[in-house]
Amino acid sequence: MTETETRTLLVDLAASLFARGFSVGSAGNISVRLDDGGYLITPTNSSLGRLNAERISRLDGDFQHIGGDKPSKEVFMHRAFYTARADAGAVVHLHSTQATAVSCLPDVDPANPIPPLTPYFVMRVGRTMPIVEYYRPGDAAMEPAIHAAAKSARAILLANHGPVVSGKTLTDAVYAAEELEEAAKLYLMLRGAAPRLLTPAQVDDLLTTFG
Ligand code: 13P
Repeated sequence: MTETETRTLLVDLAASLFARGFSVGSAGNISVRLDDGGYLITPTNSSLGRLNAERISRLDGDFQHIGGDKPSKEVFMHRAFYTARADAGAVVHLHSTQATAVSCLPDVDPANPIPPLTPYFVMRVGRTMPIVEYYRPGDAAMEPAIHAAAKSARAILLANHGPVVSGKTLTDAVYAAEELEEAAKLYLMLRGAAPRLLTPAQVDDLLTTFG
């Protein structure tokens, strides 16, 4: 995919997320790795609903700003995923309501707060999705904690803040962020109801079959 095509796809997917309420105001940011080793990331204080393809921030392979508008203040968050995971081709950070609600619950397992309720959550997000402790938005100090967690998880929840999800491609990362939000909604609906979970063997089968 060319850089121009990637910019167009980013604008379209971000607008779709915004239109369906996965992000409001100027919340959230999205990045994607380009074929030349550099990155695109949404500009700081931009609305995911109204991105301008030509003004998306351009970073070089060392995450330095080389073009477009001023980048998201969460470049550290995105860099933590790219440096931890060779398979990360894109990173999506949202404040989507239900996943953020789970990130605020003190009584969940911080190593894996959402159990394997449905196949697509497991297929898109994986076996585990830890909660990383709270940091102020834009605080560079979050990078080591996210980097450590991302080594064994495609997605994390930032406590009292929201999800950060990686994927092989931009489309994969967006789909995973959507599945995570739906899984969080199911989990909150079913809290206290002792739902049947996928068994470890079923989870293994999904990950073996779908990667
Ligand atoms: P930016 O506008 O700098 O991308 O920050 C938005 C956000 O979601 C902070 O977590």
